[in-house]
Amino acid sequence: KPYVVGMDIGGTNTVFGVVDSRGNVLATDSVKTQSYSKIEDYVEAVCTKLRPLIESFGGVEKIKGMGVGAPNGNYYNGTIEFAPNLPWRGVIPLAALFEEKIGVPTALTNDANAAAIGEMTYGAARGMKDFIMITLGTGVGSGIVVNGQLVYGHDGFAGELGHVIVRRENGRQCGCGRKGCLETYCSATGVARTAREFLVARPEPSLLRDIPAEEIVSKDVFDAAVRGDKLAQDIFEYTGRILGEALADFIAFSSPEAIILFGGLAKSGDYIMKPIQKAIDDNILKIYAGKTKLLISELKDADAAVLGASALGWEVRDI
Ligand code: BGC
Ligand code: NA
Ligand code: ZN
Repeated sequence: KPYVVGMDIGGTNTVFGVVDSRGNVLATDSVKTQSYSKIEDYVEAVCTKLRPLIESFGGVEKIKGMGVGAPNGNYYNGTIEFAPNLPWRGVIPLAALFEEKIGVPTALTNDANAAAIGEMTYGAARGMKDFIMITLGTGVGSGIVVNGQLVYGHDGFAGELGHVIVRRENGRQCGCGRKGCLETYCSATGVARTAREFLVARPEPSLLRDIPAEEIVSKDVFDAAVRGDKLAQDIFEYTGRILGEALADFIAFSSPEAIILFGGLAKSGDYIMKPIQKAIDDNILKIYAGKTKLLISELKDADAAVLGASALGWEVRDI
């Protein structure tokens, strides 16, 4: 069977596509995740678009398997149980739902784990046995690879590094119900939150003041930074420092060869990479100093998450 399907369930969009054995994403389609408050409607909406996509490549007979990456996705049992940035609550057997409706064996894992698998198979982590993938999107996720294997933990939920608390005092409220999680500062939404805070706290002019505060997104901050806006540059400085401080600690978990950053924010270049690297250097335990590379994902932009999830589609059992 020449193809697999990859699906990335994000807090904002769900993207799925057909992928060949060389890692070419041949066609994709998407739905808006937040438009469906009922899981049944959501699964139906995805399948309504996915079926014709599969048909155009010869039907399910041509598909080896489907890999799905989702926030909180549990590889062991194919469920999600509590994903702060998704609209549904309770235990949802996503893999079984898709497998039944599409008729293709389906494996589910955490979205950041999927990114790590994609990076090992096709990207910057080829040949690496120890690395940590950090995804910076609507939330912050992680995939931890040790001795060449993803760490799943005894229950399948290992590696929720986005919910490591980085501010004990006056920490920002997180969707997980706790305060001060890394994700509330270093996700794309965290950056927008920082922008709103800085605009109130600091009197100086800024290009960001032209945008209604509630509408600011991290891309606006990047665009302003590129145009020389000091406040926007400071937002990245602040974000990068908090992330780098956390990464310096994460390095002590598993002594990775590299930390690989994935997602739009990672593409904000030196504005964010420099402060991250500086904070790592300033905070790292001496024995690790200078040993862990800080890299940006090599998976191609738009389809990276789909490609990552699709890699799992080759490993599914047959049904
Ligand atoms: C979730 C993770 C997920 C990350 C990125 C976090 O809020 O807890 O499971 O990997 O967001 O989507
Ligand atoms: Na993970
Ligand atoms: Zn949290």
